[in-house]
Amino acid sequence: MSANENKNQNGPILVTGAAGQLGAVGRNVVGLLLDRGLAVRAMVRREDERAAALRSAGAEVVVGDLLEPADVYRVANGCQRVYFGMSVSPGYLEASVTMAAVTREVGVNALVNMSQMTVSQMSIQNTTPSRQQRQHWLSEQALAWSGLPVVTIRPTVFLEGFFLPLVGPTVRDRSRIELPFGQGKTNPVSTADVAQVVATVLADPAAHLGRVYELTGPRSQDMQAVAREFSDALNREVTYSDIPPEDWERALKRVRLPEHLTHHLMTMAELNRAGRYDRMADAVERVTGRKATSVREFVSLHANEFGGRRS
Ligand SMILES: NC(=O)c1ccc[n+]([C@@H]2O[C@H](COP(=O)([O-])OP(=O)(O)OC[C@H]3O[C@@H](n4cnc5c(N)ncnc54)[C@H](OP(=O)(O)O)[C@@H]3O)[C@@H](O)[C@H]2O)c1
Repeated sequence: MSANENKNQNGPILVTGAAGQLGAVGRNVVGLLLDRGLAVRAMVRREDERAAALRSAGAEVVVGDLLEPADVYRVANGCQRVYFGMSVSPGYLEASVTMAAVTREVGVNALVNMSQMTVSQMSIQNTTPSRQQRQHWLSEQALAWSGLPVVTIRPTVFLEGFFLPLVGPTVRDRSRIELPFGQGKTNPVSTADVAQVVATVLADPAAHLGRVYELTGPRSQDMQAVAREFSDALNREVTYSDIPPEDWERALKRVRLPEHLTHHLMTMAELNRAGRYDRMADAVERVTGRKATSVREFVSLHANEFGGRRS
């Protein structure tokens, strides 16, 4: 089916969380779908310059609150394909169950649900202290009970949404990655790749329904090896400093991160130290046909934000 036929038969594709705050998966998905000639309804929380940019790129921009059922009904009505994702926040489970109730009511062909890779190791007897991770685990179950045509996206830690904001400043200021990750290995994924997977699924969901896609980068390695990829990309020595978790928590509180997010990040660090982020999955390449972005490639692309490359 051509893109135009798709556009006419299925209505616009709804993308929630489209303004983008940290990882900005939704914003990237909007761009990729528009590039494919598909009609997109981009849901944002407020009118601002990000909403204006989405509109001028060609999206139909709708304003609403994912915690307000009537708003969710208004934005989802007329859409048969939906990407659901929003910021790490205490109301996540409520928002995803609201989306499930609404999409059952309006009837959709595909609901692509953003989750987290940690869920794949969770069970009733083995959850984690992060309320965010527990909410993703419960959301996945609620969506399974809903009978909706769901596609589950489980990325590991984001390069854009974690490494760029949280180690960018120290790499810029003192060429050091300062994290309480111990000797644990990690394999971060680029949200540009995550968005490519989501857009590929939304463009033609039939073959993906019911599937769970786990997404990592191309290499699981300890933080010393990650620092070497930074060094190669920036042509200057970047080192890893394994800081005490309490120091990191103090630093997160100093920049006034919300309590829910701080607690989630502290859990991520604890799981990293325990080797739980030592994962390797190939769904980026399987779904998109392209290799996942490496740390070195990512840092090269964002060299200025990490303090620049030495010539
Ligand atoms: N960061 C990571 O390392 C990582 C790893 C794996 C999975 N994930 C998952 O990825 C998701 C986050 O994706 P992301 O980083 O692409 O998101 P993001 O950039 O933080 O953007 C999410 C958007 O959701 C909007 N939003 C928040 N609450 C809303 C509400 N009540 N109603 C309407 N819109 C609302 C925000 O709007 P405003 O900007 O206007 O506030 C924001 O633009 C979460 O599910 C997280 O668990 C993250």
